[in-house]
Amino acid sequence: MATMIEIFDTTLRDGEQSPGASMDEHEKIQLALQLERLGVDIIEAGFPIASKQEFEAVRKVAETIKTSRVAALARAVPGDIERAASALKSAAKPVLHTFIATSDIHLEHKLRMTRPQVLEAADNAVRLAKSLVPRVEFSAEDATRSDWEYLVEVTKVAIAAGADVINLPDTVGFTTPTEIRDMFRYVISHVPDSGKVVFSSHNHNDLGLAVSNALAALEGGARQIECTINGIGERAGNTSLEEVVMAMRTRNDIYTFDCGIQSREIVPSSTLLSKITGLAIPYNKPIVGRNAFAHESGIHQHGMIANAKTYEIMTPESVGRNRSDLVLGKHSGRAGLAKRSAELGYQMDEQQLNKLYDKFIDLADKKKEVYDDDLRMLIVSQNKEDFEIFHLKEVDTFGHNPAKAIIKLVKGDETLTDSATGDGPVHAACVAIDRIAEVSGQLETFEIRATTPGKEALGEAYVTVNFSGKHMKGKGASTSIIEAAVLAYLDAVNKYLAYQESTDDGIAAPVM
Ligand code: KIV
Ligand code: ZN
Repeated sequence: MATMIEIFDTTLRDGEQSPGASMDEHEKIQLALQLERLGVDIIEAGFPIASKQEFEAVRKVAETIKTSRVAALARAVPGDIERAASALKSAAKPVLHTFIATSDIHLEHKLRMTRPQVLEAADNAVRLAKSLVPRVEFSAEDATRSDWEYLVEVTKVAIAAGADVINLPDTVGFTTPTEIRDMFRYVISHVPDSGKVVFSSHNHNDLGLAVSNALAALEGGARQIECTINGIGERAGNTSLEEVVMAMRTRNDIYTFDCGIQSREIVPSSTLLSKITGLAIPYNKPIVGRNAFAHESGIHQHGMIANAKTYEIMTPESVGRNRSDLVLGKHSGRAGLAKRSAELGYQMDEQQLNKLYDKFIDLADKKKEVYDDDLRMLIVSQNKEDFEIFHLKEVDTFGHNPAKAIIKLVKGDETLTDSATGDGPVHAACVAIDRIAEVSGQLETFEIRATTPGKEALGEAYVTVNFSGKHMKGKGASTSIIEAAVLAYLDAVNKYLAYQESTDDGIAAPVM
């Protein structure tokens, strides 16, 4: 019988620390709901002390999610812990995750604390956290570069103070499979009360070893894996959820572990994350990359036709690639749209469905075949619109260089119009938006991708805009590339305006 392990997903926290992966509250909620469908045991929703926006996002995720546990991160200081506990107030199953570094390098150069001081801080932090939230995880940051005897001491203190989970992270992606396995064995066997807690492994992928290290940690006694969708995360990323889960499932002759992940939700989760963040999935990424199940060579194709097992170690269906991708056409009707949206996991009220239907008909008019990914993009963009300050009503552009753009934006009941000239139609439109919204943005990155195949494909635009040093990402989708770019720019403007409002309370982002 397989030993069940817990999957702790940190896409919304460590994953969000990936350059370019920041998510707002509404995006986090959408992804959290998908993670719940995926069956993760714990969703780490964020770091509430970081900003008012981050606090609100964690609070909303905590309020929305009912089946998975929801975790919030806090440094081992009272202000962080109290803020995290407050964000988790309405969670059905809250987890307060507090951490402090334990390696001498971090103690000396970052914390400027002695070992006894760190022990005391860990003790106080876990006691305070436990007095506020019933379940507490304690992380010994940079554990894999820490002295093992000291790790034993810290673990004993955290357990005595009430921790339920002890996480020993490979913060800098430095360890190796045998080393991490031995570290877990050492700590677990030297801590008398180790049986009272769950040991967790959190790995970074700097040497490309995160998944191997996570699997080795299980062999050493860890029973919780911390991971992210598509492996996103700080620097080279974290353990990739899809890889570690499918490695366990495919090689269960070696890894006698299992977990509650609904593997058919893996590809939908991966796609949704990519749509939300704009981070493309490499074609050769295991499990979720476009080529992961593609067989190019004639010999391989021949083998596949004879028997798929010749070259396939798992089926595409098992990770959610079997769903028919062609969704709907113009005549599918409202009921067909509602059914397919529900099958993809989106719950909508009547009003939201009506709005989506109008957009869908608009798209189906331009593009005969509407695919699942088109539909996802429409839903993701629409959910955002409900919370935006400015909506795009119309964009008209003339000429090329110089180009002129006329923009109509809606703000509440008002329609605001302005025009501008620029080096090209997109530039002209951005200048006109700046004038209406009274901001000044510099377009720094601009990427266009086709969502689905075909000449009339929906174009996805992803931009980064610099507003006096504050970098905001934006995305937009349309069958017109110019409109997609304008929507993406406007998205960044809306985010910047929301950010400005949120910083009014003066909470400064902490240094981790
Ligand atoms: O990498 C790390 O050490 C972390 C901790 C906060 C768990 O992300
Ligand atoms: Zn991390």
